[in-house]
Amino acid sequence: MEKLFGSALYPAVATYGPCNEQNLSPRDVKLWCRCGLSKKQPWCDGSHSGTGFLPLKWVVPERPQTVYQLCACKYTSCAPYCDATHVNLPVDVLKRQRQCQGMHIETVKLCTGCGWVPDF
Ligand code: FES
Repeated sequence: MEKLFGSALYPAVATYGPCNEQNLSPRDVKLWCRCGLSKKQPWCDGSHSGTGFLPLKWVVPERPQTVYQLCACKYTSCAPYCDATHVNLPVDVLKRQRQCQGMHIETVKLCTGCGWVPDF
């Protein structure tokens, strides 16, 4: 979990499941989206600006795989890889968002207290 000034930051859930990435070249440097706001999942498109999140720099391993299952829910504990955390995530996310004391106003792009994003 990301932290900013000692507080946990909760990302938005881009998708409750992994992105299957193919044709990645060994040693290529990629920026994996941590905030969940990118429109180019699982990669960063700069949408994290102002949220406190930064992308994860990931180097494609030397020994290539045909397919990489990369986390798109953003709650994996072994980023950027999917670890199946997404399976039980919807209940946790809903509960946290219901309990969030943050101000959910339409002008905020992400509530990092619970991962809520407004519908645009
Ligand atoms: S998509 Fe995030 S753990 Fe599977």
